Amino acid sequence: MKKNFFVSTPIYYSSGNPHIGHAYTTMLADIIARYKRERGFDVFFSTGMDEHGTKIQRYAEKEEKDPREFVDEISEKFIRLCKELNASEHRFIRTTDKEEHWPGVQKMWKAISHDLYKKKYKGLYCFGCEVFVSEKDLVDGKCPAHDKEPEEVEEENWFFRLSNYAERVAKAIERDDFHVLPSSRKNEILSFIKEGVEDISVSRSVEKLSWGIPVPDDDTQRIYVWVDALSNYLSVLGYGRDEENFNKFWPADVHCVGKDILRFHAVIWPAMLLSAGLPLPKTLIAHGYITSEGKKMSKTLGNVVEPFSLIEKYGVDAVRYFFFAELPLFGDGDFSERRFKERYNSDLADGLGNLVLRVSSLIKNGVAEEGASPEWREKVQETENSFYEKMDEFRFGEALGVVWSLIHHTDGYIEREKPWEKRENSKEVVANLLCVLLSISDMLAPFIPSSAEKVRRIAEGGEKEVLFPKI
Ligand code: MSP
Repeated sequence: MKKNFFVSTPIYYSSGNPHIGHAYTTMLADIIARYKRERGFDVFFSTGMDEHGTKIQRYAEKEEKDPREFVDEISEKFIRLCKELNASEHRFIRTTDKEEHWPGVQKMWKAISHDLYKKKYKGLYCFGCEVFVSEKDLVDGKCPAHDKEPEEVEEENWFFRLSNYAERVAKAIERDDFHVLPSSRKNEILSFIKEGVEDISVSRSVEKLSWGIPVPDDDTQRIYVWVDALSNYLSVLGYGRDEENFNKFWPADVHCVGKDILRFHAVIWPAMLLSAGLPLPKTLIAHGYITSEGKKMSKTLGNVVEPFSLIEKYGVDAVRYFFFAELPLFGDGDFSERRFKERYNSDLADGLGNLVLRVSSLIKNGVAEEGASPEWREKVQETENSFYEKMDEFRFGEALGVVWSLIHHTDGYIEREKPWEKRENSKEVVANLLCVLLSISDMLAPFIPSSAEKVRRIAEGGEKEVLFPKI
């Protein structure tokens, strides 16, 4: 029987156009989804849009649009991004979807209702983060992420007894039952919990937030956007409407998020799940941030990396390759066009592309990979084992490094053997090379799916093609 596997991206805010940071998390989740499918898993891959909240409501008002019209336009762009990134089969969930999403959120609300109580509250709220902040979170009185002063908010809200679950969440993280990666983030979250966790407000008054999901049995309140958004991981599977599919794929195997939303996913989310009596996700990957030309991306600096034009200019596979070969998954990584071109030319054009071209000119009718020598079969097998080991630990850069060592090793072999000189063993040499190409194609498929497919076709005697023309 096939094993099931659920991988998710965060659902992205409908407040602006997609940028390379969003594309990065989607590519990451897609690489995992494709890899697991290749390894025989039945994979459910989810992504989507976070469309409620005061921030979105305000953005829509600013553009004099109805919030519905506003979010529809933005979600179209994110759907296009998935397509252009060549994201494999996935479910795209939108929090404004009353049929697919709302039943799950309302079911979740009811499931945690024994931990909810109403309280008058006065606090500072950052609308950029959609979160109540305390003085200690601020730098010079401003939210450091949005460089804006939070606004004072006073109202009666529903509160969730987060404090009751802090200890259990910490235990699950400590024991890796809920595996937070990398370990530096795990430690960060554990010390955050140790400092003390307070209960959180989980609803907003309807006057302040009309653009949201109604609280069951309380017309005066709307569900807090983060509770709404986090519940997407359940609703997308069918919680509250398709329990069979939900039970098939929950708990999530991997939630992919950026480090900016670690606390929501590593503290609030598991606490809600525990309260609802649901099992915790197995792994949470918090990746680093992408900077551009050494600086934080910003419109004022004019260094925002735009995924659509990058893909159009260099092709989607080159983009997918660069971000996972060059950037450290768990640390911050820099995008620079110079470095992009260097890696493109050295690894893709001169490395992979050149090897495929050389082998394709040697391919003769009647030579099949079955004729490969035991030494080469073993070499390929060893490479695959090492590749899989690294993939299973999400060490993608190293996994790619293993493939490129095989590419270089094979280049050296061709140089030594000179099979074009019609030497006696040339049939075996070509069989060895085919064996290498087919294995490379399999290993690279999660990263550069269409190029990997072309490598396979060429190895099987299909038409020759230049894979990555030099730039
Ligand atoms: N809507 C919330 C998430 C709710 S999930 C239940 C949200 N949305 S967001 O549009 O701001 O997207 C945040 C995510 O985009 C980050 O967690 C990260 O995955 C990605 N990135 C945004 N900017 C990024 C970089 N500069 N670099 C890398 N990824 C970043 O937060």
